[in-house]
Amino acid sequence: MGHPTDQFNRPLRDLRISVTDRCNFRCPYCMPKEVFGAGYQFLRDPQLMTLGELTRIVRAFRALGVDKVRLTGGEPLLRADVPELVRILKQDVGVKDVALTTNGWLLEKLAPVLRTAGLDRLNVSVDSLDDTTAGKLNGLGFSVTRVLRGIDAAAALGFPIKINTVVQRGVNDGELLALCDYFRARGHAVRFIEFMDVGNTNHWSAERVVPAKEIVARIGEKWPLEAVGPAYRGEVASRYRYVDGRGEIGLISSVTEPFCRDCHRARLSADGKLFTCLFASLGWDVLGALRAGAEAAGLESYLSRVWSGRLDRYSDERAELLATGEARAKIEMSYIGG
Ligand code: GTP
Ligand code: 5AD
Ligand code: SF4
Ligand code: SF4
Repeated sequence: MGHPTDQFNRPLRDLRISVTDRCNFRCPYCMPKEVFGAGYQFLRDPQLMTLGELTRIVRAFRALGVDKVRLTGGEPLLRADVPELVRILKQDVGVKDVALTTNGWLLEKLAPVLRTAGLDRLNVSVDSLDDTTAGKLNGLGFSVTRVLRGIDAAAALGFPIKINTVVQRGVNDGELLALCDYFRARGHAVRFIEFMDVGNTNHWSAERVVPAKEIVARIGEKWPLEAVGPAYRGEVASRYRYVDGRGEIGLISSVTEPFCRDCHRARLSADGKLFTCLFASLGWDVLGALRAGAEAAGLESYLSRVWSGRLDRYSDERAELLATGEARAKIEMSYIGG
């Protein structure tokens, strides 16, 4: 099977897999408690992809050119078989780069088994170093200290680690310097993420977005920064290094400087639907096809057809859509995996 390109000539390189739609946090910008409370219908176990199904699906994606797989959720570490999945993806399927995005709550305990399983790297979310703010931002009052211990434990085992910080004006943008200071002392790049209008329930407003340019200017005033080229084509974060040589930061500016042009990411929800954009409203039922009896070749040609027809560029179009008020239903981030 050849490697497909989409309608804008973008190849398929990365696969982001949500292994569960559940999370032990309730960040208001992602899973607000009012919505994801007692009555919320999460996926049931039989709806989730099993390890065997995941293996077959990732193999098909491998055949189409995917060499980077990211496990997300919800919170991926809530699923007990994630270390075994990592082992399979590395050893049996031969995926070059297997990464995991986590809130870090279970990291202290699980870092060793993830290391043994062969996980290549970790991205950990930290929105605040202050317990009160962190508690508000995870929705449940959990202290950030345990997350920081998890990060230290993983770093001690040799994991490359990046920190993800969603910046909201008036909420945590007063902590930009403190976050830079804390993490560069430990050798981890912080990636500041512009607050995005994902899902339908996260009370997004343009006023709360702090543009990446402003973030760079504010940090650069204290510690001068210079832009660095991307580590690879289509990298989500734009990178800057401290002129003093002590590390770097990243900016994920999906709102003010969209990067759809080079987007080569496919997303798989925990129930095995393929989404060709973070903001898509419809997914292709890959797991359904598999359960209906699709063989490897059939699965590959199905995925290839979907990718070849892809036209998504939501962030590029966002400005126009917002201006015309043409809102549409979107998929929740916890379901599709960010
Ligand atoms: P690296 O491989 O380490 O560069 O990871 P990553 O930045 O692609 O993944 P991560 O899970 O750490 O995501 C960081 C942030 O980038 C999250 O807020 C994601 O939702 C966002 N993000 C990742 N890919 C895309 C994308 O294709 N489009 C948009 N709009 N946002 C994305
Ligand atoms: N805007 C930007 N980033 C978000 N994330 C979750 N919701 C949003 C949002 N509305 C981030 C998480 C995590 C990453 C996977 O996605 O904080 O770092
Ligand atoms: Fe959970 Fe991450 Fe969403 Fe927060 S952002 S609710 S930690 S999935
Ligand atoms: Fe890719 Fe969609 Fe994000 Fe654009 S908005 S970069 S097409 S996932």
